[in-house]
Amino acid sequence: MLTNLQQQPADALLALIKLHNADPRATKIDLGVGVYRTGQGDTPVFGAIKAAERKLVETQDSKAYLGPEGDMGFVSALAPYVFGKDNPTQDGRIEGMQTPGGTGSLRLALAMVKAAKVKRVWMGTPSWPNHAQICADLGLEMKTFNHAAADGTADMAALRSAMAEADEGDAFLLHGCCHNPTGIDYTNADWDEITDLLLANKLLPVLDLAYQGLGSGMEEDAYGIRRVVRAVPEALIAQSCDKNFGLYRDRTGALYMLVAEKDQLPMVVSNAHALARANWSQPPDHGAAAVRLVLEDADLTAQWLDELDTMRERMRQVRARLAAAGKTGGVDLTPLGSQHGLFSIIPFTPDQVQAMRSQHGIYFAGSGRINVAGLTMANIDQFIAAVADVTG
Ligand SMILES: Cc1ncc(COP(=O)(O)O)c(C=O)c1O
Repeated sequence: MLTNLQQQPADALLALIKLHNADPRATKIDLGVGVYRTGQGDTPVFGAIKAAERKLVETQDSKAYLGPEGDMGFVSALAPYVFGKDNPTQDGRIEGMQTPGGTGSLRLALAMVKAAKVKRVWMGTPSWPNHAQICADLGLEMKTFNHAAADGTADMAALRSAMAEADEGDAFLLHGCCHNPTGIDYTNADWDEITDLLLANKLLPVLDLAYQGLGSGMEEDAYGIRRVVRAVPEALIAQSCDKNFGLYRDRTGALYMLVAEKDQLPMVVSNAHALARANWSQPPDHGAAAVRLVLEDADLTAQWLDELDTMRERMRQVRARLAAAGKTGGVDLTPLGSQHGLFSIIPFTPDQVQAMRSQHGIYFAGSGRINVAGLTMANIDQFIAAVADVTG
């Protein structure tokens, strides 16, 4: 029976890692993989997480099952960071649950959308490829609109017409901050307008918050999510701690559900729990327990926020250096200075992407998406010179 299956394409980014590893040049640069890197090229465990992990080893006295909702201490400790200090989860219309990373949270959010018989899911493209893959796997109808305008800002005209064309009750999947792959975020004014459009057209927001704190700051990056959540009757919020706590492989995230009336919450949450049971039964504990211990301890919280500031400052410096290069060969690097997060797209042609690999040993996705955290003060001039060479 298994021969009825068909060969699936290899993951393009994993294939890129292999190509990079096989390149013998000492000067090679990896701008493909989606993790933060220090100026030395490492992806270390946060000091605050290490300290919390030591505490966890000493104090955790059971690994008995917790239930499909996971560690609810983690879910409530995280809520004020997502929703703000006047945390609206306290008015009884929002409840969360722990999920295996942001991917688990999105999977659950979109499975809820499907179970709720929402007709279509709209998303700006390009987007993180897994968005479309999850929708396709769930058999959800997808509609796309253009995300990035030619001037390097979000294409609000395309979003406006998509929202006008959508049917009442359709879902809109929106990146909260640090858009992957373009780095092009909505401005606060855009979010104000998006909120009005969601309300006027009676649309369901599914908000993906995978990089909070990697753009302008934990508070600043949450503007859009908080603005929408305070205005709309219903929303699904997929959060990830895998980037902002550096927990990637520990799969740490949460799904928050906002409902119109308090008394609907138990019924809605019961569906999320049932879907989690059918998917992974219970989320992995370790990462969420470590985050909870960080957030329950003022000193560890301060240490974590400090480490996050250092990450963001490094990415700001790299972006500023790229922007300062301005027009480089046939491309303009200026917009990268005002984009946010790990990623930006440089409009390379497929031949130029190949030339960057073969002639300069610089590896990134075929779409031209680069991980700016792969650049350091030691290799950035080499990168800029290579861009000038292949696009000039
Ligand atoms: C836009 C976006 N959403 C969600 C995720 C999910 O992250 P994770 O499942 O590693 O928490 C990612 C990860 O790359 C992402 O880029």
